[in-house]
Amino acid sequence: MDFSKLHSNIISIIENKTLKRDEKLLAICELLNQNVPYYNWVGFYFANHETQTLHLGPYVGAPTDHTVIPFGKGICGQVAVSNNNFVVPDVSAQDNYIACSFTVKSEIVVPLFVNGINIGQIDIDSHEIDPFTSEDERFLEFVNQQVAQLF
Ligand code: SME
Repeated sequence: MDFSKLHSNIISIIENKTLKRDEKLLAICELLNQNVPYYNWVGFYFANHETQTLHLGPYVGAPTDHTVIPFGKGICGQVAVSNNNFVVPDVSAQDNYIACSFTVKSEIVVPLFVNGINIGQIDIDSHEIDPFTSEDERFLEFVNQQVAQLF
């Protein structure tokens, strides 16, 4: 997968003067979902540090019941606490995992930092087993660095 060609699209969305922030986030989800064949669900969760919960933001893919996730719970909740990327090649091998759909086989979550604070994350589910590489991590870190400018 050549992610470099998506960099300019991401920057155009971020710099768009007419879209509101959530519209930009949704446009990024759509861009990723449409251009990366194994990105089957793409969404953002945002942290409420007072209540220690994550809240679903803009997303593309199957609707999920998991619109609020406590810190520590599931892959997303663990990233809220660890501040580290979490790549799950095979979700069936995870104990602390929140299943959204039986079609999901793997997941990647990359935290979103604004001024060094973990304010949320981008979450991607795939219907393929073990599709994610370090290139996905570097690309999603780039996406989140761009998104951070919106906050
Ligand atoms: N699987 C996630 C829950 C969110 S859904 O993937 C949209 C988790 O274990 O945190």
